Amino acid sequence: MFGSILSQVLERVLELPPARTRKIEVTRNLRVPMRDGVVLLADRYAPEDGGAGDAAELPTVLVRSPYGKGGLHSVMYGRPFAERGYEVVIQSCRGTEHSGGILDPFRQEAADGLDTLVWLGRQPWAGDVVTTGPSYLGFSQWALASALASVPDDGSWEGIPRPRAMAVQLAPSDFREPVYEGGSFALHTFLRWTRQRWNFERDEPLHLVRAFGRVLLGVEGRAVGRAEARLPLGDLDRWATGRRVDYWQGWLEHDAPHDPWWDSARHGDAVAGITAPVHLLGGRYDLFLPGLLRDYARLRDAGRQPRLTIGPWAHEDPAWVPVATREALAFFDTHAKGERGRLRDTPVRVHVGGAEEWRDYPDFPPPGVRAERWHLHGGHLLAREAPGDSPPEGYRYDPADPTPSVGGPLFGRGAGPRDNRALEARPDVLTYTSEPLGRNLEVVGPVEAELWVRSSLAHADFFARLCDVEPSGRSVNVSDALLRVSPGRPEPEEDETLQLRIELWPTAHSFRRGHRLRVQISSGAHPRLARNTGSGEPLAAATKLVAAAQQVFHDPLHPSAVVLSVLA
Ligand code: BEZ
Repeated sequence: MFGSILSQVLERVLELPPARTRKIEVTRNLRVPMRDGVVLLADRYAPEDGGAGDAAELPTVLVRSPYGKGGLHSVMYGRPFAERGYEVVIQSCRGTEHSGGILDPFRQEAADGLDTLVWLGRQPWAGDVVTTGPSYLGFSQWALASALASVPDDGSWEGIPRPRAMAVQLAPSDFREPVYEGGSFALHTFLRWTRQRWNFERDEPLHLVRAFGRVLLGVEGRAVGRAEARLPLGDLDRWATGRRVDYWQGWLEHDAPHDPWWDSARHGDAVAGITAPVHLLGGRYDLFLPGLLRDYARLRDAGRQPRLTIGPWAHEDPAWVPVATREALAFFDTHAKGERGRLRDTPVRVHVGGAEEWRDYPDFPPPGVRAERWHLHGGHLLAREAPGDSPPEGYRYDPADPTPSVGGPLFGRGAGPRDNRALEARPDVLTYTSEPLGRNLEVVGPVEAELWVRSSLAHADFFARLCDVEPSGRSVNVSDALLRVSPGRPEPEEDETLQLRIELWPTAHSFRRGHRLRVQISSGAHPRLARNTGSGEPLAAATKLVAAAQQVFHDPLHPSAVVLSVLA
């Protein structure tokens, strides 16, 4: 009864097509055996009358989550899809909720996903499989698809259902990359995640209610904030949760770029081989947008045109939920049920900031986009022309007072576009600003900073951010990224400058007439990214803080610039 009322409310809020039935039979805690004997639990949602049809033939939506299979997931996936003619299976990942085993995040989902699929293939009620879910749940879809690609074609796996469609939201196929964003360590995201997991385990079964209460009271923010101000990073699991967390230690220990420890969490190489139709949804300020777009390009370049929606969202913005649910449903109806006419004509839909409107394109970046260079100049100017002779500007970066992160792709409160004026007033932040634009400038696609810099230290970070400066003087972040340099990476030039190419977050933004472009250069975005201590000590153990003298060049031999994808 309560479930049915909730469904009706949700149908309105999410603007879903009408339910085919409200009679859903829920079977809890189905036991799904893994190859090593561990048993994972799953709940099944079945429309009682088959949702208008023969239940045995209904496609099955598989959702694999480390956040519990009931509660929110039941509301977001269980009922909405079951009421519209799908079997739904929501499984708790290894070591989460009451599933067996120990959680080792990101590294177990390929094998466990495959074993789950084998089990599903043996269930008489399970039809064609489709997969959905955001973030970790999206990554677990990539991992499953990757595991399937490695299954031998010798008949031994006959009967395993191959997903007919995937709807992945806010998730990359490679989770190593966002952990070491730009070669630094994504401190805030992964410490907060570690603390959330700990809350989740200690709070059951009232997890959601208590978690919500703690967020409202600001307890969570303060607890994580206090911990992330400390060093060494190897102690922060204890500061944030009161105990040692093995995976936190593993992440810090295995920070070398090609450490094979991460192989089971990196599925980028398998993406081009995915033949199931893929629907991707990302946010302009999402943590995982760059990886999601790399996966889009891999599929597109392999001749499979994925669908892509990019909204104005950060990771935890609830506004993406209705769009994701509606689009996944229409996508599955098309590909698993053969219903036509529910998908938009063009594969790509992007929300353009500044213009504040949605645009449909045949591809991302859209055809006709050209690279436009905006050069840094002496006098803190930014202009199309190449720079003349001018001395570099310098600043001092002090890891004892690390340059803070303001807005942008943050995990949690404060994410997204923010007023950067206080940040830009700091002496450790340089800015380069254009004249007011004579007409609108539309940037849709990749953004890159090509910088010529010098540091007094061999270990240093450089952070570049593109802002939209309103006529009022308010400077709002559009796109950014950080790059960590270390001895030999990159190789210094003869004059000891470093040429850096920093791939900023791809974006879709219209800089309006009268607004100005601004580029910020600094050496940190703490606590979003762990501070560079400057000492070169190992990531987990570093405590010694060494301040750096940084220089940014802009002259004919060192033409620092941002390169924008400009729409004709
Ligand atoms: C998520 O599932 O939302 C998530 C996973 C890892 C880091 C941050 C967020």
